Amino acid sequence: MEVIVQSDQQKASELAAALIAQQIGAKPKTVLGLATGRTMESVYDCLSKWFESKQLDFAEVSTFNLDEYIGLAGDDVNSYRHYMNEKLFSRINIDPKNTHLPNGMAEDIDQECEHYEQLIDDINGLDLQLLGIGRSGHIGFNEPLSALRSRTRAKGLTPQTLEQNAELFPGGIEEVPKRAITMGVGTILDSKRCILLATGQEKASIIAKAVEGPVTSMISATALQLHPRCTVIVDEEAASDLEQLDYYRWIFANEPEWEPFR
Ligand code: GLP
Repeated sequence: MEVIVQSDQQKASELAAALIAQQIGAKPKTVLGLATGRTMESVYDCLSKWFESKQLDFAEVSTFNLDEYIGLAGDDVNSYRHYMNEKLFSRINIDPKNTHLPNGMAEDIDQECEHYEQLIDDINGLDLQLLGIGRSGHIGFNEPLSALRSRTRAKGLTPQTLEQNAELFPGGIEEVPKRAITMGVGTILDSKRCILLATGQEKASIIAKAVEGPVTSMISATALQLHPRCTVIVDEEAASDLEQLDYYRWIFANEPEWEPFR
């Protein structure tokens, strides 16, 4: 794992977007794992801008999102499918048939989860998985006690998550579905590379636990310590509870790989 601290939210988002752009430049047929949430909005703004200025081409890119609420159709404004269409897919030249999210309206949810895993397998896995982090420490919707080897499945959401995500529902907490389909922790760990982006003071304490705490299924993000190539990008606020901050800064300052992004 490596931790990169950027001065502010905009710079942190730009770095995450730049790594995605670099990945697509190196492999036009890239398979991206994507995330939703407020944190990702500026990443998607950057990618859309770079597409408009012809610096990026999504023609051959495929995407798989981490999760979707159970019971919300793709045209529901609160669904993650709607979020992705609005914030990214409609703004770039990706082929809609190459964009995937679990179907939260599937009649047989278990079968839908198996099918989703199969699709990822058939395409040879995820080249780069983008991740945010919930206040409960979840990645995707892998709530506390999610098995570290779990695969795509249905999960019940914690009261803390319902409350956090209610801010995005016009009707408040009553409208937030109580269950979601999510890639498992094991599915995420199988990605070839992953990037966790967290910004703002409210993420500081959970980021410190995810990066420096012991690996535990109570905090799914700690499982990223087991990932062979995980980059954690934080702004100063989200980094503020990390004990080994000077060490991370020193590594970044002395790592030639990061030269182009300084
Ligand atoms: C949701 C998503 C997560 C995301 C989290 C953080 O719960 N399922 O994948 O990381 O929101 O959201 P925000 O960026 O709004 O803090």
